Amino acid sequence: MVRVLFVCLGNICRSPSAEGVLRKVVAEAGLAHRIESRSAGTGAYHTGEGADPRSARAARRRGYDLSTHCARCVAPEDFDTFDYVLAMDRDNLRNLKNMQASRGKMRAKVALLLDYAPTAKVREVPDPYSTGDAGFEFVLDLIESACDGLLEEIRRESLGAKASV
Ligand code: 4NP
Repeated sequence: MVRVLFVCLGNICRSPSAEGVLRKVVAEAGLAHRIESRSAGTGAYHTGEGADPRSARAARRRGYDLSTHCARCVAPEDFDTFDYVLAMDRDNLRNLKNMQASRGKMRAKVALLLDYAPTAKVREVPDPYSTGDAGFEFVLDLIESACDGLLEEIRRESLGAKASV
């Protein structure tokens, strides 16, 4: 099993959206039994809450289901149990790298999500919490593009290029 953890600040907007997008992309590729998609936040403000209704609505319009989401914080053991820990922006990446450094060398590859969307016009998924609907659509555009690139990398690096079942 290849395990992917998406990380943003609150774990109610960006990272749950990425979790939902990758889960669907993986299911459509017939790889649900090979790739697990989860998410967490570096902040604890919204622990235990569902996805932000604006994110859930925008996601649902594109066929992604965030209805069962329950926000949680990144835990130190996540760096051992996940293969990829992918941050939405540089602030979160810095926090993750600091957490990882204090635990020593660990399994997870820690990177920016948009490293997997090399043609995107930006390198960070912007925080949509205080923006209007267009912000949530832009977040999904970026995430969809990155999840395609991420799935390609996982196929190549971990599953063998032809893996589909
Ligand atoms: P997220 O968005 O990090 O994409 O879940 C945010 C959600 C809540 C807050 C900030 C960003 N907040 O400050 O409460």
